[in-house]
Amino acid sequence: MDGNGRWATERGKPRSAGHIAGVETAKDVIANCVRLGVKYLTLYAFSTENWNRPADEVATLMGLILTELKDELFVKNNVRMRWIGDRSRLPQQVRKHLEDMEEETSGFTAMTVSFAISYSSRWEITKAMRDILWEIKNTNLTFNTVDDNDITEETISQHLETYFMPDPDLLIRTGGELRISNYLLWQIAYSELYFTNTYWPEFEEKELHKAIADYQQRQRRFGKTEEQVETENNTAHEKQ
Ligand code: FPP
Repeated sequence: MDGNGRWATERGKPRSAGHIAGVETAKDVIANCVRLGVKYLTLYAFSTENWNRPADEVATLMGLILTELKDELFVKNNVRMRWIGDRSRLPQQVRKHLEDMEEETSGFTAMTVSFAISYSSRWEITKAMRDILWEIKNTNLTFNTVDDNDITEETISQHLETYFMPDPDLLIRTGGELRISNYLLWQIAYSELYFTNTYWPEFEEKELHKAIADYQQRQRRFGKTEEQVETENNTAHEKQ
């Protein structure tokens, strides 16, 4: 959700105004994704590196989490909320609020929206490696009893923050920057990427539809040839 700061600065407003407008976009995108039948939406709201921003900007963002991520939003849309990120770094009140929201919305089924807050992919992968090591140490007497093949790609995926969701089909970055910024690096191995110059506060419904229409034009080959994919698709259609 990039471009909040520039959106505000270009309008002569403080950066916080951009984040406030950005929250409204996030709410609209959640509702629109439910309408479109999206099952998992993940929003990058605050990176591990964002802790280095000026204290007042961090305080604004923490405040918005408390005041805007409320149960009405999730109840109205029948959406389950989850939080991915380093829980140890959040102020106690914010952490408790997010954990309460996760619990209160755990029965909602239309879509799961995950907020990446105090998240970075390298932190997540490092943590997963440590957790795997801890499990090996605590379930076996020596490393010698663990076979190399016990650790698979699935083992790693299951130890990431995103263990409960499939890999993303589509990654959208607003705000014109052409980089990934430490986001879901493992999970986006075969995701389709969509970059737009539109700032996040202006990422309206039609922009979301444009991104999805663009995605629908892509041929996802997962390393196979065009011919192989077409043959597979034809066979699948014949079976239907
Ligand atoms: C990046 O834009 C955006 C963020 C660091 C914050 C994103 C947060 C929101 C949209 C609010 C969501 C919060 C809730 C509670 C749902 P930037 O500030 O880096 O923009 P810039 O690159 O133009 O400076």
